[in-house]
Amino acid sequence: MAQRLRQSGDQIWSTGGYDTHARFVSILGAGVLEWLDVKPGERVLDLGCGDGALTEELVKQGANVVGIDSSSEFVASARRRGLDVHLMDGHGLEFNHEFDAVFSNAALHWMTDPGAVISGIARSLKPGGRFVAEFGGHGNVAAIVTALRAVAANRGGDTELAFPWFFPTCDEYTDLLAQSGFTVRQTALIPRPTALPTDMAGWLRTFREPFFAQFGHEAEAALHDVVDLLRPSLCDSSGNWTADYVRLRVDAVSEAASA
Ligand code: BEZ
Repeated sequence: MAQRLRQSGDQIWSTGGYDTHARFVSILGAGVLEWLDVKPGERVLDLGCGDGALTEELVKQGANVVGIDSSSEFVASARRRGLDVHLMDGHGLEFNHEFDAVFSNAALHWMTDPGAVISGIARSLKPGGRFVAEFGGHGNVAAIVTALRAVAANRGGDTELAFPWFFPTCDEYTDLLAQSGFTVRQTALIPRPTALPTDMAGWLRTFREPFFAQFGHEAEAALHDVVDLLRPSLCDSSGNWTADYVRLRVDAVSEAASA
């Protein structure tokens, strides 16, 4: 039986579904690699590495990379790329001052105890090591969240299941990092409306299956309610869907060793 780790909102990952409905996540995440600016030989932790698409890119750039993810399916997929990847929850990082940098793309918004995650990142880094990440920022997928909440309310469901994420502002995240001794060098909140390769139903099935499962045999009807609510704002006249993504990008350095 697959090891069960903490998974926010009981999200279960399917690598096939991710590849079909969300491959753009790693493609668009490539921009944050420029902020990392990795040097050959650096030891890097890829936190929430998913199927390893960007981990592989870091290896190509000459880094010595360890990936972790809480999904056994993603870990298996990343290992098939020949990567050094471990099954581990980002809330319980098991490293001690061994990395030059911690990198993360499109993963931290699934980890809803950011204080635990950030203190683990601080512990994983060598003194003065850098933390460079991109994930969902304040206002991310706001229309989608509002539609999920409306459908939960209309159908007597659990509105909490509509929002299993952490989408902070730059100031909120900077404060959290400062509490663990980080100095933030730059942050950016980047609106990124993103054309979906399939449609909104595919996105919702990939990322919010636990929300719809609460409606039992009416799950499909609830999904169609959400899609109908979103159509006027996120679907164009040709039937092409856009997701209202907003990214928070951050570059911080951990405390240097005291003299
Ligand atoms: C994101 O990458 O921002 C995201 C993906 C799935 C659900 C929510 C947010």
